[in-house]
Amino acid sequence: MAVGVMDIEEGAASLPGKTTFQVVMCSIIAAVGGLMFGYDIGISGGVTSMDTFLLDFFPHVYEKKHRVHENNYCKFDDQLLQLFTSSLYLAGIFASFAASFLCRRFGRKPIIMSASIFFLLGAILNYFARDLGMLIGGRILLGFGIGFGNQTVPLFISEIAPPRIRGGLNIAFQLLITIGILAASFVNYLTSTMKNGWRYSLGGAAVPALILLIGSFFIHETPASLIERGKDEEGKKVLRKIRGIDNIELEFNEIKRATETSNKVKSPFKELFTKRENRPPLVCGTLLQFFQQFTGINVVMFYAPVLFQTMGSGNNASLVSTVVTNGVNALATVFAVIMVDRLGRKFFLVEGATQMMATQLTIGALLLKYLHLVGPITSHAVPLIVLILICIYVSGFAWSWGPLGWLIPSEIYQLEVRTTGYFCAVAMNMVCTFVIGQFFLSALCRFRSGLFFFFAVMNVIMGLFAIFFLPETRGVPIEDMAEQRWKKHWHWKKYFKQN
Ligand code: BGC
Repeated sequence: MAVGVMDIEEGAASLPGKTTFQVVMCSIIAAVGGLMFGYDIGISGGVTSMDTFLLDFFPHVYEKKHRVHENNYCKFDDQLLQLFTSSLYLAGIFASFAASFLCRRFGRKPIIMSASIFFLLGAILNYFARDLGMLIGGRILLGFGIGFGNQTVPLFISEIAPPRIRGGLNIAFQLLITIGILAASFVNYLTSTMKNGWRYSLGGAAVPALILLIGSFFIHETPASLIERGKDEEGKKVLRKIRGIDNIELEFNEIKRATETSNKVKSPFKELFTKRENRPPLVCGTLLQFFQQFTGINVVMFYAPVLFQTMGSGNNASLVSTVVTNGVNALATVFAVIMVDRLGRKFFLVEGATQMMATQLTIGALLLKYLHLVGPITSHAVPLIVLILICIYVSGFAWSWGPLGWLIPSEIYQLEVRTTGYFCAVAMNMVCTFVIGQFFLSALCRFRSGLFFFFAVMNVIMGLFAIFFLPETRGVPIEDMAEQRWKKHWHWKKYFKQN
């Protein structure tokens, strides 16, 4: 099993060392993996609503979209169109599973490099796509890039970062996701009026991939990965460089000890799924990602332009609206970076769920009243109000379930099963993103505004889950999590009784 600084006892918080330029640079370069992920999330929705793209690949959807009497809620309902968005996540699930083994065997650096190469190839294939096969093939390659990247980058950052700034750097990954989404919506806005604009949008994915590829030549392999693979001396050398001090024996010994402990566990998956004490973090960490997706966030991220068009906005107006919501997303994430260690995780999770629930109820009610089956919304105010509501909704996500869906799973597991547990969270993210990507447009067609009420109910459930089942993890040393939190929790403590 892969093990790392992320797996070191929190005694590590008092380990000597500086926050060096090397660490900051390596983390920023690796976090460009988030930029790739974000670019892709942001580009798909805009492209699938572009007329030229639809004409080239989905002429029947184009025709349906422009039929005056077409049911408003069903204009974009097409399994193949949805497969264009979601195929990537299906590939991502397999890739992240493979990556969880490969990065143990070969180290983090080559996997991050491969992630950028897959992504680059996917972008090139998509740029030159002539038929649906090439298009979906490109998406699958992108999916491999995302799967490799999402499994490895957060782990890499956690391993290389000094413990005291690990949380902040972790959320920087999410920040780059949101910047990627914002950049993509801006690109879509620029290319939407160009002939073959979709080619530039999809081909633009090559930019973050190239940045990551070039950058990855300059990053260090993590000390943990080196030591884990028996390269102790090299591990020490990197430790000296990234900590900026000579005396790294203490940290080296911690990593060595962590490696030895975890190497005793022959099958981390078996350990994770069969040992009772692992049940609470497994359930909570994986559910967090399930709920993160069932906030409905990717309905907005993938399909906001389609949604705005469904309400009768023009092509351009709908893409501008998307740039606005994505700008709010990035700004609100900055707020999370600053506040999450002060106000705590639970506060944000409950507040965020409440905010999202209230806005979804209102959007659902507005659509119910004003968006009839055929014809545009007659009121001019309604699309604007919906835009404002979506911004409030997105900010609620951006400072709560967005970053915390990634952060909390990285801090609640016992040493031996931490990376495997983290894989479960990544996989849950990919599965649920696939489901939302694949079925949202069909669900919108069938359930119409009811869909927003469904997500509102999900937000109530996740808020209650956060209140009753999640322990507050802020400021708790990682290795004390079981003692200080799980064993004292009204429900989860029973999993520890036999001890
Ligand atoms: C989620 C993505 C989402 C993005 C929005 C991420 O944390 O995993 O699915 O699109 O946040 O900012």
